[in-house]
Amino acid sequence: MQVREYELVTLTADDYDGVRALWEAAGLSIRPAGRDSAEAFARQFAGGTQTVIGARAGDRLVGVVLATHDGRKGWINRLAVHPDFRRRGIGQALVAEAERVLRAQGMHIIGVLIEDWNTASLALFERAGYARHPDIVYLTKRDSPDV
Ligand SMILES: CC(C)(COP(=O)(O)OP(=O)(O)OC[C@H]1O[C@@H](n2cnc3c(N)ncnc32)[C@H](O)[C@@H]1OP(=O)(O)O)[C@@H](O)C(=O)NCCC(=O)NCCS
Repeated sequence: MQVREYELVTLTADDYDGVRALWEAAGLSIRPAGRDSAEAFARQFAGGTQTVIGARAGDRLVGVVLATHDGRKGWINRLAVHPDFRRRGIGQALVAEAERVLRAQGMHIIGVLIEDWNTASLALFERAGYARHPDIVYLTKRDSPDV
């Protein structure tokens, strides 16, 4: 049996700096002055609708995902795996754990927004059973460009 080189852990608002550093190392496009700021991260926890799951290899945070819900649907956000730890199943394990958490919270549909050029993420989610919606276009209204 293969021994896992990482463990999945539940993170808290105190883990923000490590999560932010990992997002940056992973090249993830984030909103550091908006919904990915330290203040917003802490506020999202306080709302009780966000679970942050990390993957730790020793004392190093090498993967992260946010599992959130809006009361109707679950959402998978900000999935990132450090470049040195990719293609070892960590992304897939984080998604599976996010799904477990969201189902336990009563969510029976889970969505993820993926940029159309992100072939790695699209491949991961399609392999995990997610289907592209044929005719939905994502529209947003923003109070500022940074949010
Ligand atoms: C997308 C990302 C999280 C994948 O993490 P990972 O730990 O490498 O993914 P896994 O090892 O669990 O991959 C599972 C499956 O997804 C697919 N996949 C993952 N990366 C892929 C790639 N670069 N190209 C093609 N398929 C890929 C494969 O089917 C893979 O299985 P395999 O390795 O047996 O072929 C990682 O590449 C990343 O952090 N990217 C930058 C941030 C990002 O884009 N996040 C998603 C935002 S929506």
